[in-house]
Amino acid sequence: MSVLVTGGAGYIGSHTCVELIGAGYDVVIADNFSNSSPEAIRRVGEITGKNLKYYDCDIRDAEHLGKIFAENKISSVIHFAGLKAVGESVQKPLEYYDNNIGGTIVLLEAMKNAGCKKLVFSSSATVYGDGNASPLKEDMPTGETTNPYGSTKLYIERILQDIHVSDSEWGITILRYFNPIGAHKSGLIGENPRDIPNNLMPYISQVAVGRLCRLNVFGDDYDTRDGTGVRDYIHVSDLADGHVKALKKTLAENGVRIYNLGTGKGVSVLELIRAFEKASGKKIDYKIAPRRDGDVVVCYADADKAMLELGWRAKRDILEMCEDTWRWQKNNPEGF
Ligand code: NAD
Ligand code: WQD
Repeated sequence: MSVLVTGGAGYIGSHTCVELIGAGYDVVIADNFSNSSPEAIRRVGEITGKNLKYYDCDIRDAEHLGKIFAENKISSVIHFAGLKAVGESVQKPLEYYDNNIGGTIVLLEAMKNAGCKKLVFSSSATVYGDGNASPLKEDMPTGETTNPYGSTKLYIERILQDIHVSDSEWGITILRYFNPIGAHKSGLIGENPRDIPNNLMPYISQVAVGRLCRLNVFGDDYDTRDGTGVRDYIHVSDLADGHVKALKKTLAENGVRIYNLGTGKGVSVLELIRAFEKASGKKIDYKIAPRRDGDVVVCYADADKAMLELGWRAKRDILEMCEDTWRWQKNNPEGF
């Protein structure tokens, strides 16, 4: 039996495929390559020594998805496929609702038709909005999302709850990621933003490699240790391992479960810059810029539930996250 990985050519999906194969699962990928390249899949093959089966498929294409389920024995799905740029989602809300929510509905329909009722879903800490204080716990209220991207994650979480109410045979695990960074140890796969990065870590690494000249630090007058924003950065390989643990639980038990995947520790913008400088030996040129609209000040996880119920905890520290990002960036200055 295989695991269907939607969005498996993307940043988190490709790293998760490596860990799934390492844990003995057969993997089939469906990706439309709107934000990725088949080269990522080839490199996952290079790392694992396996030739991966993949479909160039948009998950909104019900017929194509039906064919994938008919051609493969799929016991479960890990669903990464979606658009993820917060700013773009404000400009193009309908594209985000169509791709993320529409795509998920078509996928769920195809799963139902194929009798496959086991799903792990990529959600985000963004569903907590800015109404809760960190550390964020899974039972805190959600709902005050501040952009269409965040709202798609929130609505999909609700759709998944409703599916289980309608049919208790569904086993669904919702994973709320904090800030994934880092890259596989091999330096062969990593984050590959198409345009100028919006997120901090890819911006820093592109400054280090000389693709961008200077980082803007968005605000240094927040009420934090050094005045800059604090986040829970998690190594993408730890995150990927969390999916393997979540999948095992999902296959064994029905019901809907929700877990934070974070380290439980907050790191400031300046601390991340310092760690990256240490890991790379490069000076990161930055200037203090105005606060970015919509930014929360502090956001980190309470990660105990995943430890208690999945036996998962993040192992890699911030220096290792920076070293691995740097290896990937240095070896692949232009990405894939
Ligand atoms: P990514 O863009 O690298 O990967 C997403 C993949 O989905 C890409 O390969 C893209 O081509 C594919 N895709 C998009 N729409 C598709 C469609 N309609 N049909 C088929 N394939 C499609 O992003 P990522 O960082 O790997 O994120 C994976 C998931 O995790 C996303 O759902 C994202 O919202 C979620 N997430 C990411 C972060 C983060 O900071 N990276 C944080 C929280 C949640
Ligand atoms: C981190 C910190 C910035 C860029 C976003 C999405 C969220 C999510 C993860 C998906 C903040 C500061 C950033 C820069 C900076 N993903 N910063 N200069 O804001 O936690 O979350 O990505 O679900 O939905 O909103 O991550 O990496 O953008 O920012 O100073 O050029 O770095 O102000 O304090 P964020 P980020």
